[in-house]
Amino acid sequence: MIGYAFMGRAHSQAWRVAPRFFDLPLEPRMGLLVGRNEAAATAAAGRLGWAEVETDWRRVVERDDVDLVDICTPGDTHAEIAAAALRAGKHVLVEKPMANSVAEAEAMVAAAEDARGSGARAMVGFTYRRVPAVALARQLVAEGRIGQVRQVRAQYLQDWLADDEAPLSWRLDKDRAGSGALGDIGAHIVDLTEFVTGERYVGVSGMLETFVHERPTAGNSDGLSSTAGTGRGRVTVDDAAAFTARLSGGGTAVLEATRVAWGRKNAMRFEISGSTGTLAFDFEEMNILHHYDASTPARDGGFRRILVTESDHPYIAAWWPPGHGLGYEHGFTHQAVDLVEAIAGGHDPAPSFADGLHVQQVLAAVERSSTAQGAFTAVGD
Ligand SMILES: NC(=O)c1ccc[n+]([C@@H]2O[C@H](COP(=O)([O-])OP(=O)(O)OC[C@H]3O[C@@H](n4cnc5c(N)ncnc54)[C@H](O)[C@@H]3O)[C@@H](O)[C@H]2O)c1
Repeated sequence: MIGYAFMGRAHSQAWRVAPRFFDLPLEPRMGLLVGRNEAAATAAAGRLGWAEVETDWRRVVERDDVDLVDICTPGDTHAEIAAAALRAGKHVLVEKPMANSVAEAEAMVAAAEDARGSGARAMVGFTYRRVPAVALARQLVAEGRIGQVRQVRAQYLQDWLADDEAPLSWRLDKDRAGSGALGDIGAHIVDLTEFVTGERYVGVSGMLETFVHERPTAGNSDGLSSTAGTGRGRVTVDDAAAFTARLSGGGTAVLEATRVAWGRKNAMRFEISGSTGTLAFDFEEMNILHHYDASTPARDGGFRRILVTESDHPYIAAWWPPGHGLGYEHGFTHQAVDLVEAIAGGHDPAPSFADGLHVQQVLAAVERSSTAQGAFTAVGD
């Protein structure tokens, strides 16, 4: 595993826990943690459960005793590390967004195609697909329980940059992050709503905005928060992104991603209205899925609140009795389980690098549309 901060901790937890709760066909062994500072990486490896430490990922991806490379670093490193690992015949799990540009994502797809012959599998870490209530929503749409998808509304709202003095971090640097709220959290709701509907965005009309153009440089950072350093620097990404979109099945969508919405911490929500019903989800109540079924008589109709903790709900059988809910970290465990099962079963995991490339194309279309004052822009052109 490369990188050991926010996602490194979440993925380590997943690798530790997955074989203890799920009956896996292969036992993952947590071999090497890669970090550029040896002392800090050694401390992290001890805490997180990794056997050895390396300071340069290049020395790791070709080792004979490494089968899978888990990339938990900022976006500017993803393409190079993933391509090198795939060339060496290793399976790859790369965090989202898959890359910082469409060109990088295309190169990663080509590397994954070339590596297919050696049996290497490649997957992107859109972990919210693995929240049981989200996976249930997908099942219900596929079963026709809301009919034909007509309208998608999705929001991903955070507030960790709402304070004008919140410091810069790599997430505010276009060279390192690719984009701001758009790629960091907008990418999630693009993937998630396509996953749930089984459809693709084919065109967008978008608007990006940066409200705070200069911030203190960062001292130490941990997760999404940083302490301020002594200088000041330029913000080179968007604070907020909004776009409307057309879906491949004829439906329409309204999506919004922001890191400056005071009071909203990790409010990732979607509501999908079809010809015969609606599904609604909010990550801040992640064990709940709301379903409105229009075939129920109006007299006793209304949204039903499904507590997604029954053993026949996705992933739940491995966990706790009904009502004993799951949390943020469980999605990462489910991701590890799904990847190990795909590797052992000899099939491609999802989301694939091709899926990651498509998300990147949607993000690029939103950027082009925003530059063109919101002109409707086809995805992939
Ligand atoms: N799936 C999710 O829900 C989710 C949530 C947060 C972040 N992410 C993604 O995960 C990735 C990492 O984000 P994070 O929040 O963990 O960032 P972070 O800043 O918390 O951690 C990044 C880690 O990468 C290391 N690193 C940076 N460059 C490196 C290099 N060249 N070689 C080795 N190590 C290097 C840093 O030292 C640090 O350990 C990003 O792509 C981000 O978008 C995904």
